[in-house]
Amino acid sequence: MTVSYDPFSTETRANPYPHYAELRQSAPVHRLEGAGFHLVSRYEDVLFVLKHPELFSSKAMQRMIMSGMGVGIQNMDPSQDFDPKAVQVLTELSKSLGFNPVELMMTPSVIASDPPRHERLRGIVNRGFTPRRIAALEPRVRQIAREALDRMLQKDAFDLVSEFTIPLPVTVIAEVLGVEPDRYADFKRWSDTLISGATGSASGTQPALLLAAFQEFNAYFMEQIERRRRDPKDDLISALVAAEGGDAALTPMETLMFAVLLLVAGNETTTNLMGNGLLALLEEPEQFDRVRTDPALVPPFVEEALRYDGPVQMLFRETTQDAEIAGTSIPKGSIVLPIFASANRDAAQFVEPDRFDVDRDTRGHLGFGFGIHFCLGASLARLEARVGFEELFKRVSKLQRLDPEVEYVDSFLLRGPRQLRLAADRV
Ligand code: HEM
Repeated sequence: MTVSYDPFSTETRANPYPHYAELRQSAPVHRLEGAGFHLVSRYEDVLFVLKHPELFSSKAMQRMIMSGMGVGIQNMDPSQDFDPKAVQVLTELSKSLGFNPVELMMTPSVIASDPPRHERLRGIVNRGFTPRRIAALEPRVRQIAREALDRMLQKDAFDLVSEFTIPLPVTVIAEVLGVEPDRYADFKRWSDTLISGATGSASGTQPALLLAAFQEFNAYFMEQIERRRRDPKDDLISALVAAEGGDAALTPMETLMFAVLLLVAGNETTTNLMGNGLLALLEEPEQFDRVRTDPALVPPFVEEALRYDGPVQMLFRETTQDAEIAGTSIPKGSIVLPIFASANRDAAQFVEPDRFDVDRDTRGHLGFGFGIHFCLGASLARLEARVGFEELFKRVSKLQRLDPEVEYVDSFLLRGPRQLRLAADRV
């Protein structure tokens, strides 16, 4: 049976879940025409991919991001290591920044590395994300949430995304990194452009825009890194810089790439988690009232949001040798997309998977991935979402959506509402 799945269409973006169901049912390993990606949609098979980094390499992440820079991922030729247009873009970049584009390509960050390199990088960056460090952030996260809500709830109608779920994680990650508060808007702009340009925009990429964002982003961080070398502070950039040189250490380019990854990985995802979660909860008034009035239900609500409509729908892997999944052969060097969001709706794993249910057992959901690349920021994201919702629910007795339709962010990898206009009854 042929499956009509187009991850780049607006219709799919509005609701990809019936398409994932069709894939799981009829084509659990589906080769996408054109780009030639192999989509893996069943829970068991997604888990298999994530458990076997020796067969399914994360180098694909670097390749796709770099290649996407030139042509837009849906148009690229998977048989080429680096698309010539991407090389051209990076050569331009090198002129203004004074470093070799090949070095940039050859310096994958933790998310795009395989063992043993991955082990080394993860060992270093883990230091910034210990449970103790994250727990210590709670009072400040709460204060940031309260201040944003003070402003937002002065109005009867507001956009929750631009006024709450964007500023909260952007402010937190910028403070964790130790970058200047007045640049928050720039961070958001840079990470938006990088995400929509380099990770699967529907509309293809605009290399000039992307190049400009990347240049600004890199120039800013290079300067920040340089400053911390001269004058270390009590922030993550300083800790990373301190880890440069020596044995288990980051190179300067690795420090830069990690800072960039954190900014992108740590912002949009948490924003989308909160947006998707609230959209789902608003469809279930009885559950909304229970979660709103019982803070103990906020953590299970956040986990169910990760399962039911996760911010990271799928990511890239690449076969290191000929492989077979669910009886389908995948040749060496193929791009494989494990669809986390589809695995999380697989009835073989979750009872009535299409029902949003804050009481369900969500253990085993793949919203943060699995295995060696399991999300480094999971505890931070959980903290931000929990505290953000706790504070919101203290202040409102009712929330009502103002737009019947939801417009989603411009990426097939990431999912979340661009805006969420609401009217509130305050407590
Ligand atoms: C709700 C929010 C988030 C979601 C849904 C999410 C999801 C994910 C997923 C699915 C992966 C696995 C990637 C793979 O297997 O290739 C991942 C990895 C990662 N995430 Fe998150 N993430 C979130 C928030 C954050 C935050 C707040 C940070 C940092 C501040 C962060 C930093 C990272 C990093 C550095 C990795 C790579 C880890 C590695 O390769 O070892 N994420 N995330």
